[in-house]
Amino acid sequence: MRITVFGATGAVGSRVVQEALSRHHDVTAVGRNLDRLTTLAQRLGEVGGLRVLRGDASDAGDVARLGWGREVVISATRPVPGREDELAIAAKGLVSGLAGSGVRLLVVGGAASLTLPGDPGTTVVDGPGFPVELRPIALACNEQLEVIRASTDLEWTYLSPPALLEPGVRTGTYRLGRDELLTSADGTSSISMEDFAIALLDEAEQPRHPRARFTVGY
Ligand SMILES: NC(=O)c1ccc[n+]([C@@H]2O[C@H](COP(=O)([O-])OP(=O)(O)OC[C@H]3O[C@@H](n4cnc5c(N)ncnc54)[C@H](OP(=O)(O)O)[C@@H]3O)[C@@H](O)[C@H]2O)c1
Repeated sequence: MRITVFGATGAVGSRVVQEALSRHHDVTAVGRNLDRLTTLAQRLGEVGGLRVLRGDASDAGDVARLGWGREVVISATRPVPGREDELAIAAKGLVSGLAGSGVRLLVVGGAASLTLPGDPGTTVVDGPGFPVELRPIALACNEQLEVIRASTDLEWTYLSPPALLEPGVRTGTYRLGRDELLTSADGTSSISMEDFAIALLDEAEQPRHPRARFTVGY
């Protein structure tokens, strides 16, 4: 498949690129910073099937230029702290740029809009003990999801991580859920970025959640 990844130089995005390349997809890796793109190309370039290009997910023209003609566009952008409003702006750019294209959009989102296990009336961000310092990015992710859900003429899927999404080990195992936070038997809610990338590429290759949000975890 031909896949474009926005946010490709990030922690999640770079692992998504790596997973896609390992499956022999044709990957266009997009970011705004040329130095970071060059570093990514040097690290992964020898695998083949990769090209890196500058582009901004919030620019509908960039999204159309880099997304049309692909089977799938994946977005894993994240704003720097203090500029959380950029997340919804990027979502609007992706929606506008891909409307009518027939290209599927897979968005890496946040966990905060999931509901607490066994409590469908309470979202993670409104649950007890949610860290106050994470509230701005959590609310930004919620707005991002609203923008994606409101889109028309676009085949989208939104993947919410569990509470913890960190660099780790590629185990190849994961569980799927819909709108409720997934937790393990020990009460933790987590997945490695490597396994998260597997779940995302599995969805890219075999769509199981058209125009829907789903979640993943151990
Ligand atoms: N538990 C959770 O809910 C959880 C935990 C971790 C991550 N996440 C989500 O996972 C996603 C990725 O996070 P991450 O940790 O990989 O972030 P990261 O390491 O900070 O990477 C984000 C990337 O996005 C790029 N970017 C930002 N704005 C962009 C734009 N408008 N156009 C193109 N590229 C853009 C940045 O590169 P440039 O600045 O060079 O363009 C950067 O490479 C985010 O949506 C985050 O909310 C969720």
